[in-house]
Amino acid sequence: MTLSATARVAGIMGWPVGHSLSPRLHGYWLSEYAIDGAYVPFPVMVDRLADALRALPALGIAGVNLTVPHKVAACGIVDTLDPAAKRIGAINTVVVGSDGALEGRNTDAYGFIASIAETAPGWMAGAAPCVVIGAGGAARAVCVALLDAGAAEIRLVNRTQARAADLAAELGAVVTAARWDERAAALDGAGLLVNATSLGMRGQPPLDLDLARLPQGAVVNDVVYAPLETPLLAAAVRRGNRTVDGLGMLLHQGRPGFAAWFGRDPQVTPAVRAHVLAGFAP
Ligand SMILES: NC(=O)c1ccc[n+]([C@@H]2O[C@H](COP(=O)([O-])OP(=O)(O)OC[C@H]3O[C@@H](n4cnc5c(N)ncnc54)[C@H](OP(=O)(O)O)[C@@H]3O)[C@@H](O)[C@H]2O)c1
Repeated sequence: MTLSATARVAGIMGWPVGHSLSPRLHGYWLSEYAIDGAYVPFPVMVDRLADALRALPALGIAGVNLTVPHKVAACGIVDTLDPAAKRIGAINTVVVGSDGALEGRNTDAYGFIASIAETAPGWMAGAAPCVVIGAGGAARAVCVALLDAGAAEIRLVNRTQARAADLAAELGAVVTAARWDERAAALDGAGLLVNATSLGMRGQPPLDLDLARLPQGAVVNDVVYAPLETPLLAAAVRRGNRTVDGLGMLLHQGRPGFAAWFGRDPQVTPAVRAHVLAGFAP
């Protein structure tokens, strides 16, 4: 790939950053659309994040994605936050404006909803209660996405009950916190179950959840994408529920940033999915 003197540059900041699939994703899109640009992994230590972000305008860099551990801290460094980022309390995308101002966005909520819409067409957030397991960063994005999509009831279940109760209180009456030992009962009548914990990830124990009370028509979504078929999704497939894996969310959350930096709304196709999948053992 040859870059011209006017090439657009974006990237991802994390510590470590080597595990990130985003360079593979954006690199594919840059090549597919023959864009004069590059997407670079930036290993940035916690205490250098402010310096690194503030250097973006001077370097002419169009913006960056942010990954662990920078998503929350960056909120206090950028100049403005989009409404989703304010409600979620974390950013995963920074766009450098023409005046050099840094805009922080959160595109995880968008990615989550876009992935369900693509994989489980016809599912409607308001048609039946949604059950979300977890109360960390991913769960916050999922809840905000579901609220914006018209959810009428969100049952939030987290091992640390206080975190679920705090998040429910923050997000309003549609979200109620259930106890961890009530998680199987919380599935009664649900139209969607989302695992937004790290359980089921390679190297982690599976999510221990009896699906017996989950209606057969419910959609089951796991935000974990390595492995692609988590034990939860495998159990859901066995009993005939429709499933949505975590890779779709990862692919779709990248779209708004790419469009802002490189001027083209990229598509999530089977080819880009296969390319990103090849970057890790499914
Ligand atoms: N697909 C995507 O695009 C995407 C995007 C973002 C995140 N993710 C994935 O989502 C997962 C969660 O990320 P996050 O940023 O939300 O992490 P986080 O903020 O650290 O939250 C972790 C969550 O997992 C729960 N948890 C961890 N270990 C547990 C255990 N042994 N038993 C019960 N609950 C446990 C925590 O419960 P406590 O509160 O009790 O500790 C908390 O709710 C990760 O696997 C991440 O890779 C995927």
